Amino acid sequence: MPRTKIAGIGKYLPETIVTNNDLTKVMDTSDAWIQERTGIQERRYAKRFEDTTATMGAEAARVAIERAGITPQDIDFIIFATLSPDYYFPGCGVLVQRILNIPNIPALDIRNQCSGFVYGISIADQFIKTGMYKNILLIGSETHSYALDFSTRGRNVSVIFGDGAGAVVLQPTEKENQGILSTHLHSDGTEAEMLSMPNPGFHAGKFWEAVKPEQPETPYGGMFITQSLLDKDDLYPYMDGPAVFKKAVVKMPEVVQEALKQNNLQAADIDMLVPHQANLRIAQFVQQQLGLSDDKVFNNIQKYGNTTAASVPIALCEAWEAGKIKEGDLVCLAAFGSGFTWGSALLRW
Ligand code: ACO
Repeated sequence: MPRTKIAGIGKYLPETIVTNNDLTKVMDTSDAWIQERTGIQERRYAKRFEDTTATMGAEAARVAIERAGITPQDIDFIIFATLSPDYYFPGCGVLVQRILNIPNIPALDIRNQCSGFVYGISIADQFIKTGMYKNILLIGSETHSYALDFSTRGRNVSVIFGDGAGAVVLQPTEKENQGILSTHLHSDGTEAEMLSMPNPGFHAGKFWEAVKPEQPETPYGGMFITQSLLDKDDLYPYMDGPAVFKKAVVKMPEVVQEALKQNNLQAADIDMLVPHQANLRIAQFVQQQLGLSDDKVFNNIQKYGNTTAASVPIALCEAWEAGKIKEGDLVCLAAFGSGFTWGSALLRW
């Protein structure tokens, strides 16, 4: 059975740089607060009416496709990971398909937030290993800046997120020392609302509460655009920061160890860990737990903020472009995000 290799990788970051000091002009925050808590110095914001999640994904895809030495017409499957799609439906996969002019092939959108790219790697791996597809385009792209609460109330969330896209082309390889060794996926919905954006959604709870309080609450499964859709609070992301922090610093090292154990490897064997860029403090905690030196962990949250599903491919791309990942290197990708969902992928570059 072939393994799955990353044949090409690309990224797209919108031009507009928004520094922490820029944010102080619209909300009560400070460069010191943001840097100390998150490590973030600046982030990119999409150019209004030009960049969307789909267009940025397509730009990153073009680079990945070219670097893989193929053309868009060779792509036989698109997987698109995002939590900020252009439309509620249809998904961004078909929009990228239209931009790249590659009709008829399947396009799949996945909704696994910060873990979306790692979930996508795992999905692609299954299709490549079975021989069903030979050139899978996997994209992680996000446009957060259009939907953040820039008032003081939303500042704990809005200072963290940035826009951007990353993409890879995945292909089969027969080389012994190359390709994905294993992927590991987990979810736990017991704390789903700790990091969430309830609307637009089809949960009828608030509708019944507001309109017919005598009706028993039906929290899931209702087919109403909820009353709370009109309530702007629910149109912004909500995060219980400390709860997310506590969970992430346990689950990320755990899922890396799970991958190492399955492959009879040790943390010391890792040449490059590319963690989801949630928060520099989380990444440093993971690094410390695994006992890795600074040169074995790649972080770029300082420049781009947290780009959720795009953060792993952007960081992986930048690490590779900087010559920090070479052929045969043991690379570990690890992510944790809303759901909660988390996962890892261990591969030889
Ligand atoms: N600027 C200035 N002050 C702020 C800001 C801000 N942007 N945001 C919050 N504050 C204030 C609060 O109002 C509060 O003030 P008070 O003590 O007077 O009430 C104080 O700072 C502490 O607020 P908390 O929300 O408790 O902030 P905390 O210290 O927990 O830091 C943070 C927030 C950075 C989000 C932290 O919880 C954290 O690192 N959490 C990890 C979660 C994370 O990084 N998520 C990333 C996205 S999720 C993911 O990708 C998995």
